[in-house]
Amino acid sequence: MQAIQALEQRFSANHFDTNKPVTEKQIEQLVYLATQAPSAFNIQHTRLLAVVEPAAKAALKAVAFNQQKVEDAAVTFVVLADTQAHEHYARVNEQAIEAGLYDQQMAEKMLEMVAGNYADKPGFSRDEALRSGSMVAMNLMTAATAVGLASGPMIGFDPKALQQEFKIAERYLPVMMIAVGYEGAGNWPKKPRLTTEEVLVKDARPGQTHPFSQ
Ligand SMILES: Cc1cc2nc3c(=O)[nH]c(=O)nc-3n(C[C@H](O)[C@H](O)[C@H](O)COP(=O)(O)O)c2cc1C
Repeated sequence: MQAIQALEQRFSANHFDTNKPVTEKQIEQLVYLATQAPSAFNIQHTRLLAVVEPAAKAALKAVAFNQQKVEDAAVTFVVLADTQAHEHYARVNEQAIEAGLYDQQMAEKMLEMVAGNYADKPGFSRDEALRSGSMVAMNLMTAATAVGLASGPMIGFDPKALQQEFKIAERYLPVMMIAVGYEGAGNWPKKPRLTTEEVLVKDARPGQTHPFSQ
């Protein structure tokens, strides 16, 4: 499927086919495609849990206000974002050097810039983690559509209970959950969107008043 079709056809699914599992390979492919998303300085904040086992799904459903799709979907991804991901930047540098993109001097400069931007800046680090995690989440949903799967994003869960139940350290921010599986019967179609005219200021100029000026 073309990217344009996947973007247009994705919808938020509530009902999944409970008789059709997805394979580990499919899960890996979705995560591979999802993590092609960009992140600032290529920090790559996002980590994922794939919950597939029935008892694990039941535990996840319990912390997700009993949303049935957590049990019905073949897999529910818990998208996490590392609020201290900058601490792992040496690994990003290592790969960039291996790929011949950076030399040692450039790597050191990048490390310095990353530390300057994020170390001791918890608010900005959290915002950045959430941005990165959200982009991976969107990629995952688009990729799911492209390979014939349905997806349902969720923020309806208790983050503290989730972290406790699935032993997620404090530094990892639960960005959202995404139920993924084959489409079941009874879903609403994709909902209408605001028009481009309503959301876009064409040719914005400094000092110009526009609908978002107040
Ligand atoms: C971050 C986020 C959190 C959401 N949380 C939930 C949720 O907990 N439960 C649910 O049923 N739908 C949830 N939704 C689905 C939205 O209601 C849905 O995406 C929206 O109504 C648009 O639907 P559409 O994509 O099918 O057009 C969430 C969507 C997003 C993006």
